[in-house]
Amino acid sequence: MTTIPSSGSNAERVFIFDTTLRDGEQSPGATMTFEEKLMVAECLDQMGVDIIEAGFPIASQGDFESVHAIAGRAKNAVIAGLARAINADIDRCGEAVKHARRGRIHTFVSTSPIHLQYQMKKSEDEVLEIIRATVARARNIVEDVEWSAMDATRTPIDYLCRCVEMAIAQGATTINLPDTVGYATPDEYRAMFEAVRNRVPNAGKAIFSVHTHNDLGLAVANALAGIAGGARQIECTINGIGERAGNAALEEIVMAIKTRCDVLPYTTGIEAAMLNRASKLVAAAASFPVQYNKAIVGRNAFAHESGIHQDGMLKNASTYEIMTPESVGVTKTSLVMGKHSGRAAFKSKVRELGYELGDNAIEDAFNRFKALADRKKHVYDEDIEALLDEGIATAADRMKVVALTVIAGTMGPQSATLTLDMDGKHDTIQSSGNGPVDAIFNAIHKLVPHNALLELYQVHAVTEGTDAQAEVSVRLAAEGRSVTGKASDPDTLVASAKAYLSALNKLTARGARLHSTAVG
Ligand code: KIV
Ligand code: ZN
Repeated sequence: MTTIPSSGSNAERVFIFDTTLRDGEQSPGATMTFEEKLMVAECLDQMGVDIIEAGFPIASQGDFESVHAIAGRAKNAVIAGLARAINADIDRCGEAVKHARRGRIHTFVSTSPIHLQYQMKKSEDEVLEIIRATVARARNIVEDVEWSAMDATRTPIDYLCRCVEMAIAQGATTINLPDTVGYATPDEYRAMFEAVRNRVPNAGKAIFSVHTHNDLGLAVANALAGIAGGARQIECTINGIGERAGNAALEEIVMAIKTRCDVLPYTTGIEAAMLNRASKLVAAAASFPVQYNKAIVGRNAFAHESGIHQDGMLKNASTYEIMTPESVGVTKTSLVMGKHSGRAAFKSKVRELGYELGDNAIEDAFNRFKALADRKKHVYDEDIEALLDEGIATAADRMKVVALTVIAGTMGPQSATLTLDMDGKHDTIQSSGNGPVDAIFNAIHKLVPHNALLELYQVHAVTEGTDAQAEVSVRLAAEGRSVTGKASDPDTLVASAKAYLSALNKLTARGARLHSTAVG
C-alpha cells in the first residue's frame, strides 16, 4: 500500500459502544442463546470494545442472566444494560450490572412530540419529571449512567436541551441522542450535537453519544457526522445488525476512521485485525448471513473480478485496494487442507482462522472435517469456518439428523426417509411432499409435531464448484419469537434438514412450546 495516512498526534479518542447483544439482537430472527451471547461478548471484550451493551435485563429472565454473566466475566469493557424510565427496569438493570468491574445503567425515554402524544400520552413537563426521577435513581445504584433521548432527531431543539440539562444535573455521565427512526441527514445530525453542546450549560460534564439507524442507508455517515459535531461515543453493532434496517456497522466505522484518519482525526481502541472474526462469529451465533457485498466483512469486499482491476492488483495492490484484507483479519483463501491433513495441521488452521476451541470441540470439529474431506476434494478456509460455526451453534442441540434418504426427480411424489436422534432416542419416519425439501420438512414435522411458521428458506454455496458445500438458512416463528437455523453440507438436502432442525432446537432452547398439531 502506498497511501495509508497516519493519524496525527492530535487524533482524539472515540469510544466504541457495541450494542450487538441488545439492539442487534432485536433484528427479527437474530436471537442468540446464552452460550452464544457469552462467546460474542468475550470476542468484543478482547477486540477492544469500550462499552458492551449486553442486553435488556427486565425483558426476560434469560436476558437478565446473560447480562449478569457477561458483567461478571468482562475483563476490560464497561458492561451496560438497558432500562426504560421505569423504577422496576432500573433496579433490575442495576442488579444485573452492579457486580461488573465497570457497570453502566443505560436508561432512556422518548422526547419527540410524536412519541409523547401517541405512545406515552404525557406532557413535556411530565417527561422532564420522569427524567429527573429515573436518572437520579440509576445514579444511586451505579456511578456510570447513560441517558438516551429516544427519537432525539425529531425532538424540537429547545425541549431536547431542557431534557439533556436535566439528565446531566441528575448525574448522567453519557448523553445519547439517537436517530431512532433513521430519519436524519448527516448535516442535520451534526448540527443537532453542535446546538445541544453549545446551548446546554452543563454539557461539558457529560460525554455525548451517537446512535444511528440505517433506514435510509445513512447510519455510518450520520454517526461520523455526529462525531464531527462533538460526540465522542459511537453506538454500533457488528455486521450492522439491529432493529429494522439495522444500526451503524462497527467494522465500517472503525475502518473509515482508520483508513481516512487524514480527514477523520480520531482513534478507537479496536484491534481491527479481529473484525473479520467478530463478523463471522456474530453471523453464526445470530444465524444472520452477511450480504456478499457488505463493506469490510462481505465475502466480495476484497474480491477483484474485472480484468482491468485484476491487472492493476497484480502490479500493485494500492491500485484498487484502499486497505489490506489482512488489516481486518481476512487471510487469503488457501487450499492446504485435505483428507490427508492430520490433527496438528487442523488445529493450527483453526487457530489461524481465529477460533479458540477446547479439546472436545477440536476433536468433534476434526471428525467432521475428516468426514467432509472424504466427500469434497478441496477443503477451503470457508468450508472449515462453516463447519466450525455450525459446531458452535449445534453443541447443545437436543435433536440431530442421524440418516436421510431422499427420492427426487421427475416422477413424483418425492419422498424422504429420515432418522432423528431426539434426546438420545432414535426415531425413523417416511414422508412425501411437493419436492424433496418439502418431503424432508414434512418428515421432521411428523417426528417433531409443531406449529412454528416457516418464514424463510434460503440456500447458497459456501465456495465455488458443483461439490461446494451448500449453506442453508431456515427461519421459523412461534409464539412471537423468530429464530434462524443455519447448516452446511455438500448435500443441499442434508443441509436443509439440519438447518430446519437447528431452528427447531433454538426455538425449544428459548422455551417456546412446539404445540402438537400432528400432520398426516
Ligand atoms: O434507537 C434507539 O433510540 C434506541 C434507544 C433504546 C437507545 O435503541
Ligand atoms: Zn436503536
